[in-house]
Amino acid sequence: MWWPFLISLCAVSIYASPPIDRRALVARYNPTRNASSSTTPMQVGNGNFAFGADITGLQTFQPWAIMSTWGWKNDSLPAGKTLADVYDYTGVSLDNHGRLVEYMFNGAAPMQQWMISNPNRANLGAVGLVFWSENGEVLDITESNLTSIKQELDLWTGTLTSSFALAGVPIEVKTTSAQSVDSIGVTVSSPLLESGRLGMSVDFPCNDGSLKFADPFVGTWNNASLHTTTLDASPRGNIHAGITHTLVNSTFVTSIGGDAFTIARDSPDAHRYTIRPAATAGVFSLSTTWGLTSPKSVLSPAAISLSSSKTWEQYWSESGFVDVLTGSTDARADELQRRIILSRYLMRVNEAGDYPPQESGLVNNGWYGKFHLEMFFWHCQHWALWNDWDLLLRSSDVYERFLDTSIARAQVQQGWPAGARWGKMSDPSGRSAPGQINELLIWQQPHPLVFANYEYRAFPTTATLRKWEAVVRNTADWMAAFAWFNATTGVYDLGPPMYQVAEDNIYNNTYNPAFELAYWRLGLGFAEAWMERLGEPVPSNWTIVKEGLAKLPVNNGTYKVFEDVNDDFWTDPTYINDHPALAGLHGWLPPTEGLDLETARLTTEKVWASWNISNVWGWDFPLLAMSAARIGEQEKAVEWLLHPLFQFDDVGMPIGGVRVPTPYFPGSGGLLYAIAMMAHGWDGSNGTAPGFPVEGWNVRAEGLSTAM
Ligand SMILES: *[C@@H]1O[C@H](CO)[C@@H](O)[C@H](O)[C@H]1NC(C)=O
Ligand SMILES: *[C@@H]1O[C@H](CO)[C@@H](O)[C@H](O)[C@H]1NC(C)=O
Ligand SMILES: *[C@@H]1O[C@H](CO)[C@@H](O)[C@H](O)[C@H]1NC(C)=O
Ligand SMILES: *[C@@H]1O[C@H](CO)[C@@H](O)[C@H](O)[C@H]1NC(C)=O
Ligand SMILES: *[C@@H]1O[C@H](CO)[C@@H](O)[C@H](O)[C@H]1NC(C)=O
Ligand SMILES: *[C@@H]1O[C@H](CO)[C@@H](O)[C@H](O)[C@H]1NC(C)=O
Ligand SMILES: *[C@@H]1O[C@H](CO)[C@@H](O)[C@H](O)[C@H]1NC(C)=O
Ligand SMILES: *[C@@H]1O[C@H](CO)[C@@H](O)[C@H](O)[C@H]1NC(C)=O
Ligand SMILES: *[C@@H]1O[C@H](CO)[C@@H](O)[C@H](O)[C@H]1NC(C)=O
Ligand SMILES: *[C@@H]1O[C@H](CO)[C@@H](O)[C@H](O)[C@H]1NC(C)=O
Ligand SMILES: *[C@@H]1O[C@H](CO)[C@@H](O)[C@H](O)[C@H]1NC(C)=O
Repeated sequence: MWWPFLISLCAVSIYASPPIDRRALVARYNPTRNASSSTTPMQVGNGNFAFGADITGLQTFQPWAIMSTWGWKNDSLPAGKTLADVYDYTGVSLDNHGRLVEYMFNGAAPMQQWMISNPNRANLGAVGLVFWSENGEVLDITESNLTSIKQELDLWTGTLTSSFALAGVPIEVKTTSAQSVDSIGVTVSSPLLESGRLGMSVDFPCNDGSLKFADPFVGTWNNASLHTTTLDASPRGNIHAGITHTLVNSTFVTSIGGDAFTIARDSPDAHRYTIRPAATAGVFSLSTTWGLTSPKSVLSPAAISLSSSKTWEQYWSESGFVDVLTGSTDARADELQRRIILSRYLMRVNEAGDYPPQESGLVNNGWYGKFHLEMFFWHCQHWALWNDWDLLLRSSDVYERFLDTSIARAQVQQGWPAGARWGKMSDPSGRSAPGQINELLIWQQPHPLVFANYEYRAFPTTATLRKWEAVVRNTADWMAAFAWFNATTGVYDLGPPMYQVAEDNIYNNTYNPAFELAYWRLGLGFAEAWMERLGEPVPSNWTIVKEGLAKLPVNNGTYKVFEDVNDDFWTDPTYINDHPALAGLHGWLPPTEGLDLETARLTTEKVWASWNISNVWGWDFPLLAMSAARIGEQEKAVEWLLHPLFQFDDVGMPIGGVRVPTPYFPGSGGLLYAIAMMAHGWDGSNGTAPGFPVEGWNVRAEGLSTAM
């Protein structure tokens, strides 16, 4: 029975060329270093947890962070304030077409600032090597004392191997991260262990939310009196020691297992603990687990290493894959392939957690470690196109989790008749930080409709429809409610007040931003289709608003950023220095109802010529590449992805540029979204690799899904 089937499968695959040699391509880009970087760590991790390493594979010389999706803390409240003041906080009332609506900002320091910077994300600690002299004194070693330094991250297994020598004696450290728990396994090999001259340390920083950007390092190491640690060195199961770290009211537990050791606090004035191997063997392995509570047991270092290699091998073998290198003659293919592979690694380490990621993933803290719902698209929607549904589904139900608070924001706080209004700069409870832009930005609103739509394309079942039904309904209800019927013009307007994507308008009088109008149409269309598939009536307000929304503002053959902007905004520094969302009308977005493709093309080309490209950053480059791909300018699409101002460092970290610190991961997420679209296609595209030039490029994609 199955012979003919097998033969036909073979025939097809021989005809279509053999599968991509994924392992060889991944290994080609294993990052290597021979010195620590002053700006980025090497990392191992699992999406919810990441460990940043210096040249020793640990945090011996540089305090790179150990970060998680669950490790948050509140700083002490301002004098005289209680947590009740958070809930009692009131904002300003702004006029929304004759109705006063409350927005959460009032400039009232210090409570407003506390609510912006709290809770903030904690750095869980640091693990390092300790060196002793022959007579047992602690040696003060710096990186310059090391020789024969070699470090390589094996991407295929997630194994970081660091080797070096001290006074000619070799040391090797292997570091891996477990995948189902937040643990690292460390195996140290060195003759120094045999002579009892090498050990390890764990240390704990003080963290506070005083810095909006805590980079490159998070926390301070000299404020010992502001936090506490307690050691429990009595073994429990395979846990040899536990250290409880308390910062204000938050407690984090570090549990250590592996080979036998003794542990002691260095001094009562520090939170550093020294670990001395019990045996004088040439190899010492440790496993360290971080959590909110103490686990019953910890994984062995060997089990952690196995968990790492199995998970990574499966990820590289079974998810989507793109080969732009093999058979390409274009000299840029190598760098583009490097960016793809390293972005795939770093997204899996930093951006595959239970919550949307912050801009700097789990490397350091930006915006106090909070995440931004408008950025969720750029961070995580590529998972849908690369078919990493297990990873995307970890966080995409945040819309269900935040639904109640978003309904309350729309209806209780702001008095809209229906729906849920999604917040922006969020913490795990769903509270959005106070602030004008945080409260008045609107382009995050249609995102869940896109997330839902991609999920339905992959899993077209009633279960998917039901799962997203309440989110879809409430999202669209608020979109319909927010659109305001302008009796003078007879159309529905968006705003005022509101901020457009670029955040550069005056919120009080701006209305009808082009990108948001198109996105509203697209989103309401997705919502209508959702109810039709469910066999339920489509709320008439959705259709009335979708059909009745203002036309995209246009002047002399090109679209405008918003309706009341001056026609010469193209030369006004106010409007050409931030996200070029106008180019996304046809590119990032598929054609929406009423979009004139020729006008969109001229607009895109005018953006390329007019925007201040030296001031754009991160996801703007993939956005521009997608607009080029859609209009058949494939060479331009590749140029945008490799633009000199869009840089990825030696380990693939996206450089922040003039506006934000490094890394700025929306650049990596955007790159992978654009690559999937260009390599595999979008609704209505033709042929293979429709976003790449034919000349010089041989592009193959496996296991990708089509972009909208
Ligand atoms: C270290 O690496 C850099 C580039 O990565 C290289 O130029 C340099 O020669 C290397 N140094 C040693 C001592 O290997
Ligand atoms: C921080 O305070 C908020 C109130 O704003 C509270 O909901 C949250 O549980 C607290 N989180 C921590 C980690 O203490
Ligand atoms: C910490 O806990 C104390 C006692 O429950 C409480 O009064 C205080 O408000 C809390 N502080 C924060 C920042 O959560
Ligand atoms: C916006 O309107 C509010 C009152 O509704 C006013 O206090 C504020 O100054 C205005 N801001 C701008 C930028 O016009
Ligand atoms: C480390 O380097 C410093 C500066 O070169 C030197 O003084 C010190 O003796 C070295 N320590 C060891 C243990 O090699
Ligand atoms: C904590 O340490 C930093 C330096 O790392 C210092 O600037 C700050 O004043 C210290 N804070 C306190 C409260 O001691
Ligand atoms: C539909 O629109 C009407 C008119 O604007 C409004 O009164 C009603 O509350 C809306 N219904 C919903 C569910 O938004
Ligand atoms: C209605 O639309 C017109 C034309 O776009 C605009 O000038 C006017 O300000 C709008 N009316 C209100 C009350 O916003
Ligand atoms: C309209 O656009 C054309 C071609 O893009 C340009 O030559 C002309 O100067 C523009 N007119 C105005 C009034 O801006
Ligand atoms: C363009 O951006 C650069 C870099 O941020 C800035 O220095 C320059 O002033 C901007 N130019 C204009 C015309 O806005
Ligand atoms: C794909 O091919 C069809 C049929 O030839 C054509 O109508 C359509 O415009 C093409 N799409 C693109 C994006 O080139």
